[in-house]
Amino acid sequence: MAEQIETLLKTGRIIEPTSQTKAQAHIQDYEKAYARSIEDPEQFWDGIAKELDWFSPWEKVLEWNYPWAKWFVGGTCNITYNCLDRHVQSWRKNKVAVIWVGEEGQERIFTYAELYRQVNKCANALKGLGLKQGDRVTIYLPKIPEQIVAMLACARIGLIHSVVYSGFSAPALESRIKDCGSRLVITADVGYDRGKSLNLKQVVDEAVARCPSVEHTIVVRREQPGVPLAQPKELDWETWVEGCSPVCEAEPLDAETPLYFLYTSGTTGKPKGVVHVHGGYMVGTYITSKYVFDLKDDDIYFCVADPGWVTGHSYIVYGPLLNGATILTAEGKPNYPTPGRWWELIARYSVSIFYTTPTAIRLLMKYGEEWPAKSDLSSLRILGSVGEPINPEAWEWFHRVAGGDKPIMDTWWQTETGMILVTPLPSVPLKPGSATRPFLGIEADVVDKEGNSVGTGGGFAVIKKPWPSMMRTIYKDPERYTTYWNTIPGCYTAGDVCHKDEDGYFWFMGRADDVVKVAGNRIGTAEVESALVSHDAVVEAAVIGKPHATAGEMIKAFVILKEGQTETSDMIKHLQAHVLQELGKIAVPKEIDIVTSLPKTRSGKIMRRVLKAKELGQDPGDISTLEE
Ligand code: WT7
Repeated sequence: MAEQIETLLKTGRIIEPTSQTKAQAHIQDYEKAYARSIEDPEQFWDGIAKELDWFSPWEKVLEWNYPWAKWFVGGTCNITYNCLDRHVQSWRKNKVAVIWVGEEGQERIFTYAELYRQVNKCANALKGLGLKQGDRVTIYLPKIPEQIVAMLACARIGLIHSVVYSGFSAPALESRIKDCGSRLVITADVGYDRGKSLNLKQVVDEAVARCPSVEHTIVVRREQPGVPLAQPKELDWETWVEGCSPVCEAEPLDAETPLYFLYTSGTTGKPKGVVHVHGGYMVGTYITSKYVFDLKDDDIYFCVADPGWVTGHSYIVYGPLLNGATILTAEGKPNYPTPGRWWELIARYSVSIFYTTPTAIRLLMKYGEEWPAKSDLSSLRILGSVGEPINPEAWEWFHRVAGGDKPIMDTWWQTETGMILVTPLPSVPLKPGSATRPFLGIEADVVDKEGNSVGTGGGFAVIKKPWPSMMRTIYKDPERYTTYWNTIPGCYTAGDVCHKDEDGYFWFMGRADDVVKVAGNRIGTAEVESALVSHDAVVEAAVIGKPHATAGEMIKAFVILKEGQTETSDMIKHLQAHVLQELGKIAVPKEIDIVTSLPKTRSGKIMRRVLKAKELGQDPGDISTLEE
């Protein structure tokens, strides 16, 4: 990647927006709009917030007590009021809000009025269980509409949702339920993956058996005959919401009321519960959805993410609904039943905005251009990419197969940032492989360790001022939150290495810390290491990320076995199966080497950097602190 960037910086291919793209864009002159927004960011955000409905106005836009922020201080709102009521009270009442498609092409369609009724019924059912504002609810569902309904229903009455991706295993789910002490878990009997059903209920049973805080489990039953339920603790979703009133007023909440926790990986073995709140998050996701994707009322917006990750929270559920958009969401993988799956969906629903990931693009590239060529993709007008750097080759392929004149929004952001921070807008000239420029109101930069701007060149990506949808804290771990603002003085450190070119364009190059991005999913090397070490045969483990053609990065582990344990060919498989069981499929090391020693500093810290350099055949750099 770094080499490719060097070459690109030299060749400098620039793609200007077409006159049509520019003419219809919400923001036609980025430079002017950006300069104005940054003159007085608080005034900028104040104006954006006023585009939404509030129950009572704020007294102050921002209260900044470094590194603690409060936005729209004193204001009251409810994000679901702006996602639902606002539209139901307008001509959008019967507009389609969500189109859901199953693996076999099944379809479920919800208008705004229908979504509103379903959410209200679910909110009333939640109240019926005695849940109160501030209580936590864990949502462990496959990508089905109930996932969206459950999230919004929680938010509507001030419950905090914690959505856990349904690919996580029982111990991973258990630790996420325990950390936030959920009173309720919402799940389904099964999820589907390439025609196979995954038994989610069994995973939940195993996790919940060790979580005393959980009073009830709600089960969406998709298969016949319905999976048996242990009542009264386990309830069937249909029966649970049936008979509940379709009216439930959105609770007026202080702008700083927590909306959700979302667990993400960092440099320690313990995932962090990132906290987002109603007011600021609502403002940030609303305006980025509108400006980055140029959302209009006649768009069909297709985002391939799973709401189990932040992209789904911000850009399937909240951002698009805040804009009254029509959202297409599809369960399953891009290459099932055929590699034409997504292209066919684009043609079938006349998708105009398509937001996907570099990994998926690289996967589809392998099947060849004949697949996209089979479908009519002329409805597309804006493309998007997220999760990891998009290599210029994948960028060019995506651009070409989608028609050759549709701009790609390479959006850079994080679970912690809540919203897109560095990104093109449709009117911005593009450079393949660059996330281009900061979003309006965002002061991003590339700095050295001391926080000095590098001007042009490489360094660490930072954000210099607070923004409305920033995380407010890490649940039960405020110190870990402050680390983000203390690592480099005076700014928020993202943990990414980045290059800024002479046009002020950002080229993100990967993580600076012990986080690996496998197929865009964030995995802490420490989590995989502790999963490996929890196996009886293992004394020590070190995990690194290694470049991979499709997934971007893959996990490679080095393990030291206990004395008396022999390295059989089965051992590697056992260890992989163990990580699968402890964490889930996405965290399983693709390669495991059994070794007899690991490079360490004199203080005993494993030097993953040295392992990685050796693995890639590179110079390990300064190894003077190395013990062995
Ligand atoms: C990390 C955040 C953002 C939602 C999904 C991932 C990497 C994200 C880009 C991009 C280069 C990117 C960064 C970041 N990343 N988008 N467009 N170009 N890198 O959220 O799991 O919190 O991961 O993903 O390394 O720090 P996340």
